[in-house]
Amino acid sequence: MAKTGDVTTGEVKTDGVTSAADPAAQRPQGDLTVRTIAMPADTNANGDIFGGWVMSQMDQAGGIAGVERAQGRVVTVAVDGMTFLRPVRVGDVLCVYTQVVGTGRTSMRIQIEAWARRFRTQTREKVTVGVFTFVAIDDEGRPRPIPPAAPGLSP
Ligand SMILES: CC(C)(COP(=O)(O)OP(=O)(O)OC[C@H]1O[C@@H](n2cnc3c(N)ncnc32)[C@H](O)[C@@H]1OP(=O)(O)O)[C@@H](O)C(=O)NCCC(=O)NCCS
Repeated sequence: MAKTGDVTTGEVKTDGVTSAADPAAQRPQGDLTVRTIAMPADTNANGDIFGGWVMSQMDQAGGIAGVERAQGRVVTVAVDGMTFLRPVRVGDVLCVYTQVVGTGRTSMRIQIEAWARRFRTQTREKVTVGVFTFVAIDDEGRPRPIPPAAPGLSP
């Protein structure tokens, strides 16, 4: 029986970094931050979900994680290594996982994975990955220092 976090489809590899044999590739990395359903209004001419919609969900999830880590307002300043591994389809439940993987003085890098739980199944596949950089800003939109991490949390 599949355990929570397992991929039930078998093969996950396509990003060139992970492999099907790599246990880390077969379960989401980070905290589940956003969960939402892909609707017909979000489709492109092929009938698949727009990559921009998926990216938007990832940006929102990163924003939530960034606000929590920075204890206040943040903005997206850059997106690196965005890779669309698999299509998302109408009815899939998109699950977005976030993990702060590095902080600078005012910026933080958040690794974000989007997984699709396929329509009316328990099958889950990693569909998109990327590393988003957010900057903590003050009320005037100027960069402000990231506070120290809470004890026991890193970075
Ligand atoms: C984010 C913003 C406040 C940074 O302002 P800035 O004057 O460039 O500030 P700084 O040069 O001091 O850079 C601040 C931090 O951002 C980082 N940064 C700036 N540009 C970056 C980039 N392209 N990639 C990665 N990090 C970047 C810097 O390295 C610095 O990090 P550190 O303090 O941890 O070392 C400003 O660029 C901005 O408002 N951008 C628009 C953000 C936005 O509207 N996002 C939504 C898009 S719809």
